Amino acid sequence: MKNTFNNGLSRRSFLAAAGAAAGVAAVPAWAAPSLPLRQIDLAAAPGATHLVDSDGTKTKVWSYNGRVPGPEIRIRQGERLRVAVRNGLTEETTVHWHGLRVPHAMDGVPHLTQKPIAPGETFVYEFDAPDAGTYWYHPHQRSFEQVGRGLYGPLIIEETNPPQVDRDVTWVLDDWRLLIDAQISEDFGNRHDMSHAGRIGNTVTVNGRITDMFEARAGERIRLRLINAANARIFGLEFDGHTPWVIAYDGQPVDPHQVTGRLDIGPAMRIDLILDLTGDPGDAFAVRDTFYSRLKYRLLNVVYGPKRLRDKPMRKVAALPDNTMPEPDLASAERHHIAFGGGMMGGMAMAKMGGREVGMMEMMRNGKAWTVNGVAATGHVMDPILTLARNRSYILALDNQTAWYHPIHLHGHSFRVISRNGEPTRHKEWQDTVMMAPREQVEIAFVADNPGGWMFHCHILEHQAGGMMGVIQVT
Ligand code: C2O
Ligand code: CU
Repeated sequence: MKNTFNNGLSRRSFLAAAGAAAGVAAVPAWAAPSLPLRQIDLAAAPGATHLVDSDGTKTKVWSYNGRVPGPEIRIRQGERLRVAVRNGLTEETTVHWHGLRVPHAMDGVPHLTQKPIAPGETFVYEFDAPDAGTYWYHPHQRSFEQVGRGLYGPLIIEETNPPQVDRDVTWVLDDWRLLIDAQISEDFGNRHDMSHAGRIGNTVTVNGRITDMFEARAGERIRLRLINAANARIFGLEFDGHTPWVIAYDGQPVDPHQVTGRLDIGPAMRIDLILDLTGDPGDAFAVRDTFYSRLKYRLLNVVYGPKRLRDKPMRKVAALPDNTMPEPDLASAERHHIAFGGGMMGGMAMAKMGGREVGMMEMMRNGKAWTVNGVAATGHVMDPILTLARNRSYILALDNQTAWYHPIHLHGHSFRVISRNGEPTRHKEWQDTVMMAPREQVEIAFVADNPGGWMFHCHILEHQAGGMMGVIQVT
């Protein structure tokens, strides 16, 4: 069920990548090879896959290397990754390595960090993987449509000493809006989605397929990596009959803790679980998604086969080793307030758009509905909302003034979530995407150690396109 990334690059594909003539970015000067270099080619192109059933109708998608999700890239912490991305679409694209702390030039943001990759051209990304964890990759160009049509894939950075499990499993969750003929509804970026909850679909896939069951073995311990690749759907998973342990959020280790209730995972977020399969041979338990009270459904069944793998359950769940983020110094940290506004029922009167004061109606006519600090973004290049001094600690007080959920993502850094509505969080979890509930106030803290202009945006991709996006400059 997993596509394991092949070590090394075949001579043929290396030559193909190197020989793609015009459009090949030179390997940057800082690219001094140190640890092993892993290479892969990705081709973004239209294709067709079996989303709904394995022998019936294929759904036309846009995908990497002809599959949805794209190939699972799996390397070791500390290794260097080189990815040659060929654009086989009829529009520009880029690839963003979501959650990975890469150098600015490798971040895949059109016009801000690179020239978008034109149709037929190839761009070579190359960077180190400083931190272990569960990440993913996707375009940053017209993401609401490119990601929505199937362009995304998992990116796994393995720990040097990974925790002992019987299986390491990735579930990439996605949500599609399909028509009765199993084809994607073309209404991308419509005004209603943009100003409400985003493009919520009607078909949920696990690893690119509607999935009925997950095969389990009694006594087995699995590491389950959940990745939400949906444009807008928030998943709220309940594991009947099981009590999973959370060991990482957004790839970053957290004190292992058990979840008895619902496990919420917003767009772009990841959660690593240790799941002990404590049922008996022949058992079946549902994994249900109950996030939207009127859209509850069963994601799949965990079905136990006849064999028992072990009698005694494995011992305690150990914490993952720390990653390499510097610890923010809260005492000396400078504090900034960032307001998120707009949307239906938000009560927003005026906003700035393209340097002008406009009312909500005019914003909507221009396909905008959301703001960061009163400004609706019209592209990736804009005046920074904040300029931070390199290697200093910062607390950002995020203030959701809207009636909607927003998973807010910062590029180039991970941050600690230190409080919600004034209450300190229990785990001070590291994240790169933090979900804000309607009207919620969330404080995050981090050291601004990665120089460049970094996107800071809602990962409901219709909200991002609708203006909820800013740039944080680290100098
Ligand atoms: Cu996952 Cu700015 O992106
Ligand atoms: Cu949002």
